[in-house]
Amino acid sequence: MVDRLRVAVIGSGFIALYHARAVAELPGAELVAAANWRPESLARLAAECGIPRTTTDWRELVGDPEVDAAVVATPNSLHAEQAIAFLDAGQHVIVEKPMAMDVAEADAMVAAAERSSGFLMVAHCWRFHPAVLALRDRIAAGELGEVVKTRGYGVHARWGPAGWFVDPDLAGGGALADMGVHAIDTARFLLGGPEPVRVCAAIGTRYREIAVDDDAILLISWSNGTNSVVESGWWQPHLAGLEAETEVYGTGGFARIFGYTDPPEPDYEHCPQSMYTAQMAELVEAVRAGRQPSPDGADGRVVMRVVEEAYRSGGVRAAR
Ligand SMILES: NC(=O)c1ccc[n+]([C@@H]2O[C@H](COP(=O)([O-])OP(=O)(O)OC[C@H]3O[C@@H](n4cnc5c(N)ncnc54)[C@H](O)[C@@H]3O)[C@@H](O)[C@H]2O)c1
Repeated sequence: MVDRLRVAVIGSGFIALYHARAVAELPGAELVAAANWRPESLARLAAECGIPRTTTDWRELVGDPEVDAAVVATPNSLHAEQAIAFLDAGQHVIVEKPMAMDVAEADAMVAAAERSSGFLMVAHCWRFHPAVLALRDRIAAGELGEVVKTRGYGVHARWGPAGWFVDPDLAGGGALADMGVHAIDTARFLLGGPEPVRVCAAIGTRYREIAVDDDAILLISWSNGTNSVVESGWWQPHLAGLEAETEVYGTGGFARIFGYTDPPEPDYEHCPQSMYTAQMAELVEAVRAGRQPSPDGADGRVVMRVVEEAYRSGGVRAAR
């Protein structure tokens, strides 16, 4: 067992910086390396976070005895290959959402984790937000009675991503795979982790001429009898709820996580660094304790099952 978890960050884009800062903030972890095919962004990340070693070939870090854990923060099409390579070398992995392109890849990752001495964690970050945890606890305490339905949002209003996010071969889907997964996992987390028993959806590309979906409405029936509506989208003209916002309707009352549709003040940060640091702390603490971190590959796979079933039932999934 190591005193400090020695972490390598794979990818040097938007979310890699949050993960790198998280590792840097934690006394039980240390940033030892970063890898990305683009040397410019890699050098920027390394300089900003004081990462001593960089490489443009992530495979160099696979099996490296100086690297205990890898953060997979690359486009979705690379998640399975990279996570499996590190797991097969006995290293721990935290992989970004969505964990994979489809359920088959998620299965391969879960199988790799099962045969590995390393752990697999999936970065469903909203599980680490204090407001999400507080509502989860209220529901578990029975404050809302029996939960009848939830309505959750994974939507960007008036903007959407470009680049690899709208390339089906790299992203595996559009706003549903990008943003819907936050709302799906948050609903399930609030409900205590039920299994989906039925998923149907209406999915389309309505706001922009792109090769993936920018609009979806899902209906998920869970094994505990609750139904969840999940809306995902990019470029919507209006926001009914911030990312991962979830409304909960119970026999004993109503609650929602955040409670506002627009940012409440100009400098409001909806996705704070502290959420990602708490997420990384779970990996560090779990490894130190020798236990499986949560959420694990099986939790990530449930989200992929819902996404895959929704694309199947919604009729729209750009050809890969
Ligand atoms: N949890 C969250 O809040 C959150 C937020 C944003 C992104 N994400 C997830 O993190 C992952 C990375 O997203 P991001 O926003 O950091 O993206 P990004 O485009 O900012 O960064 C992607 C990184 O991967 C690199 N890369 C390696 N191979 C590539 C290839 N073949 N094509 C394109 N880029 C390649 C890019 O150079 C870049 O450094 C995605 O899975 C995304 O869904 C999660």
